[in-house]
Amino acid sequence: MVSAEFWGDIAKEFYWKTPCPGPFLRYNFDVTKGKIFIEWMKGASTNICYNVLDRNVHEKKLGDKVAFYWEGNEPGETTQITYHELLVQVCQFSNVLRKQGIQKGDRVAIYMPMIPELVVAMLACARIGALHSIVFAGFSSESLCERILDSSCSLLITTDAFYRGEKLVNLKELADEALQKCQEKDFPVRCCIVVKHLGRAELGMGDSPSQSPPIKRSCPDVQISWNQGIDLWWHELMQEAGDECEPEWCDAEDPLFILYTSGSTGKPKGVVHTVGGYMLYVATTFKYVFDFHAEDVFWCTADIGWITGHSYVTYGPLANGATSVLFEGIPTYPDVNRLWSIVDKYKVTKFYTAPTAIRLLMKFGDEPVTKHSRASLQVLGTVGEPINPEAWLWYHQVVGAQRCPIVDTFWQTETGGHMLTPLPGATPMKPGSAVFKQPWPGIMRTVYGNHERFETTYFKKFPGYYVTGDGCRRDQDGYYWITGRIDDMLNVSGHLLSTAEVESALVEHEAVAEAAVVGHPHPVKGECLYCFVTLCDGHTFSPKLTEELKKQIREKIGPIATPDYIQNAPGLPKTRSGKIMRRVLRKIAQNDHDLGDTSTVADPSVISHLFSHRCLTIQ
Ligand code: PRX
Repeated sequence: MVSAEFWGDIAKEFYWKTPCPGPFLRYNFDVTKGKIFIEWMKGASTNICYNVLDRNVHEKKLGDKVAFYWEGNEPGETTQITYHELLVQVCQFSNVLRKQGIQKGDRVAIYMPMIPELVVAMLACARIGALHSIVFAGFSSESLCERILDSSCSLLITTDAFYRGEKLVNLKELADEALQKCQEKDFPVRCCIVVKHLGRAELGMGDSPSQSPPIKRSCPDVQISWNQGIDLWWHELMQEAGDECEPEWCDAEDPLFILYTSGSTGKPKGVVHTVGGYMLYVATTFKYVFDFHAEDVFWCTADIGWITGHSYVTYGPLANGATSVLFEGIPTYPDVNRLWSIVDKYKVTKFYTAPTAIRLLMKFGDEPVTKHSRASLQVLGTVGEPINPEAWLWYHQVVGAQRCPIVDTFWQTETGGHMLTPLPGATPMKPGSAVFKQPWPGIMRTVYGNHERFETTYFKKFPGYYVTGDGCRRDQDGYYWITGRIDDMLNVSGHLLSTAEVESALVEHEAVAEAAVVGHPHPVKGECLYCFVTLCDGHTFSPKLTEELKKQIREKIGPIATPDYIQNAPGLPKTRSGKIMRRVLRKIAQNDHDLGDTSTVADPSVISHLFSHRCLTIQ
């Protein structure tokens, strides 16, 4: 374990309003010895926004350095924002939030696409000590409502609409639906701040905070509805806001943000990270894992709605005074050249993406990659799921032209930053493996509002240890190989989903009596959802029903949870005590007749029926 002394030295590189008075680290990881707790630098006070912006501008003289090159969904929609500009906007928006009555400890929900205002919004929350709870803009209104309610957010920040590839997402409409649902559940959110993003050009302020030429849009503007008394335009509030704002000095152990992650019971867990430890951890892992140098142009393709975006789009790079690319679009729009043309355009040196994106692009062959120079690339990173050797080799040989080390970073929402990773240039690489790094100040401190769930989920299985929920194998050379989840979680395109949440979305449909969902191998997504549904009497299985069920899941959870297969299951294999045997269902889905011991199945005839009615193609 890396000592508190090691982190103590790192802490000296940051600004502390008051230094740590007492023990640098106190913790209990052992449930048999009492309550689980972790405290790094308790009693010290600081502000993460001050550390990542004010210090870079004032002390390190990085005010004119570009913090983000923003690349919109449409090629040609671009802007950039310097550290100084970012600081000014964050101060303005902090003042806006304070004026709306937001105080230290309040929760603010953020539901936005990848635009500079998203970064501004989260940093403004951090500046005034409010907790941001960012909900990925691909989630449904129901998911947003559930998250707003769970942490009783007093304010929502959203956007009129945006394009994701060719698809128009009317985000304001989804936000309105979510707030309506909150209202129905007796939780009225009092204020919704809306960024005019798609309608930005008509404001005559360019497509960006830094006044670059107005964007040309071929698409018609969407109509959005407006709720008087609740909705406020971001740009109007910003015009009136002062550009200086004293940060709120927070205890190192004060919460910084909540980010929801799927839990095996089906209800998402609000993972809580704290100010001091998270700051040290993301700054340090960013610096070493990506071998950061001042002249780097870093690009993490993850959305800020996920932990990878929190840690390695916003906080980690900014803490190091780095220049990053902030990308709104997708790898295949307008075509599969997009990522590599952006790499060349900004001379990206460090590139961080997910195996699912690599597998997707691999399908289109080498040419779209090799016709771009990519000479600037130095380090490649991957995250989100185990990377298969084939994808690793393509990434290394084709994308990195065999000269860029690959950092396969294993970590989780809960860990705040990287846990297992090779260090570039220092660790001989093996495809698909990850090397243990060290324990960490960035570990989550609790599940929001439910400390017991925190203890049960992560600490009860092996007393004395934090359990990630993943299987792992260590080879003769000491390399760790993550073998996948050991619980009822599924990893679809690098996103964790619980079988329970998809099943409950299915059974909410009037035709479904029972549902069982298992993971199934998929060439691009890594894993996809294969669902077995037992219908209620009087309902028949049909393509129309399949479509309805998919729609239901999209509405309850979001498009990422859309199943690839739905099979009619008049009966499900169960133990005599009534437990569904997912192990058997997984084999059925894969047409693998080697079922192992099935002596506990209550009605074995169910199995042969399911085998003979398997879904053969993606629906
Ligand atoms: O199962 C592991 C897998 O993703 C899970 C964490 O998911 P989430 O909290 O959404 O965070 C994803 C981004 C950090 C882990 O428990 N996972 C993540 N990275 C890897 C991985 N599995 C294997 N190799 C990785 N590099």
